[in-house]
Amino acid sequence: MAVRLALLLALLTAGCQTTDVETPSAHAMDTHSHARPDQVRITHLDLDLELDFPRHIVRGQVRHQLERRDRRAPLRLDTDGLTIESITDQDGRELAHEFSSDAVLGRPLTIHLHDQTSHVSIRYQTAPEASALQWLLPEQTSGGKQPFLFTQGQAILTRSWIPLQDSPAVRATWTAKVSAPAGMQPVMSAMERRADGDGRFAFAMAQPVPSYLIALACGDLARAEISHRCAVWAEPATLDLAARELADTEAMVAACEQLFGPYRWGRYDVLILPPSFPFGGMENPCMTFATPTILAGDRSLVALIAHELAHSWSGNLVTNATWRDFWLNEGFTVFLENRIMEHVFGQPRAAMEINLGMRDLQKDLASLPPGDQVLHLDLTGRNPDDGMTEIAYQKGAAFLRRLEQVYGRDRFDAFLRGWFDQHAFTSVTTEVFLQFLEAQLLAGDPERARQVDIARWVRQPGLPDDAPVPPAELFAAVDAERQAWLAGKPAAELQTGGWVTQQWLRFLSGLEQLTVAQLQELDAAFALTRSGNSEILCAWLAIGLRNGYAAVDRRTELFLVTVGRRKFLVPLYEALMASSGGKERALAVYRRARPRYHAVAVRTLDQMLGFRP
Ligand code: BES
Ligand code: ZN
Repeated sequence: MAVRLALLLALLTAGCQTTDVETPSAHAMDTHSHARPDQVRITHLDLDLELDFPRHIVRGQVRHQLERRDRRAPLRLDTDGLTIESITDQDGRELAHEFSSDAVLGRPLTIHLHDQTSHVSIRYQTAPEASALQWLLPEQTSGGKQPFLFTQGQAILTRSWIPLQDSPAVRATWTAKVSAPAGMQPVMSAMERRADGDGRFAFAMAQPVPSYLIALACGDLARAEISHRCAVWAEPATLDLAARELADTEAMVAACEQLFGPYRWGRYDVLILPPSFPFGGMENPCMTFATPTILAGDRSLVALIAHELAHSWSGNLVTNATWRDFWLNEGFTVFLENRIMEHVFGQPRAAMEINLGMRDLQKDLASLPPGDQVLHLDLTGRNPDDGMTEIAYQKGAAFLRRLEQVYGRDRFDAFLRGWFDQHAFTSVTTEVFLQFLEAQLLAGDPERARQVDIARWVRQPGLPDDAPVPPAELFAAVDAERQAWLAGKPAAELQTGGWVTQQWLRFLSGLEQLTVAQLQELDAAFALTRSGNSEILCAWLAIGLRNGYAAVDRRTELFLVTVGRRKFLVPLYEALMASSGGKERALAVYRRARPRYHAVAVRTLDQMLGFRP
């Protein structure tokens, strides 16, 4: 095993050598950043920003504190679409600089430093179409009166609102002063928040974080306490619903602490955004940003909160050093998420959620090219977003579950806890993890080590046969009812009493080609077109569209012009394209909805629909 692992490590590093043979360290391998933190590294930044809602511009200043490792080297920063007004050192002296350009990276900026330069201040403003920023019109909010702004940094979008070293290998502490229009509340991914009066707010993050975790939102926001360290933020109209839905948040934090070590970020708050938010959730430190589509009314979709919370360990505390190592963030997080769910809601629910996740993985495996089915994925020259598939999430988690199965839960939990403790506040590569795994788990028990083909899991496409999938007993009854219905039992007579959301999703996931009469029968029995549960609704609408069930058309269109969550948009537009109206029908809705989508959703859908603006 040890020999195999050494060979594997050699193979892993072979593809990653840069011309700089002296420094084959983690940062030198981040092909998605122009920065050279091995030469000059940002250790702290101070932001002073003003939010211009009418013009859709953020303007102000960032002051970078530098650690100069190579005194002759310039400071290389990532930027995208920024207008730079001035660049000065700590004494106010102008610094010479130049830009280059790159299709994926944006507009890299090189700043020439003086011998004594310790700080660099940049005055700048963002472009109205900055990819990290989504500016919402009042009608895109539930209050309907104030506009709204939020940022989304991951993966390489922060450079479109802050000029910095936009690599997850570079960690810095930061502060920010933000001026917001009267009546609007800015919030940030910060450990401290203070209102200074006159619409000015101050924030501070005392722990070093990667650039993609600096986040800001601003709108008509209110706050409700959940526990001494957890609160929910939302627009006033959504606040009560959100606070009830997220009442188990404190129990989740406590569960994760018990399993994997202390929560090191002070507060854990959740911000519920307007529905155009392109993701389910984003693990911004101290404040998860989340879609309102998880507010089902029955707490059935809170695994998403468990997921974003778990990133406080896997991702925010121990961070993927490059986007190639994204599975270290997401695979670990899906594993932790599920352990939290099991702890708080019990094994049967956790088992159902694993099963649904593995089904999503099977879909991706059926469509992704083999090269994209490996955990350690080379994304050089590509948008890191391309690596955001179920491979990193579900295959990554399945790999950890396999290790857990072979080594036993107690040993594996202790191993994970050690991983987080010993790598806290650092950025790590796949190689670092594999070395730690070898030293802490495999080497001590070669007998068991032989039962996990590490190279196969990490380097090969497909899913190894030994991927554990716990039996979900609550699905057996669902499958039986579905079978009975397909064989002719009336829908109204199916035994669905007490079914939870995950069971409905299982029921629907087994339905493909149906007649309109069958769809009408299900709808009459279960009112699916009127479901207030976004996951159930989305699954149902897609089935309806594919099978020409016109009763879902209006609901689908309404959904597509209000909700911007990419995970829902993709299957719904796919289903529209597969429907009788075909691509024209999909494009007709898309043209209307597109101005309300976030740049990351637009990128995906433009590609999918062959749309050229
Ligand atoms: N960090 C991700 C979101 C992300 C990944 C944004 C890559 C940009 C680039 C977040 O933790 C996440 O995975 N969200 C999921 C939900 C989760 C329950 C699987 C989502 O948004 O669907
Ligand atoms: Zn995640």
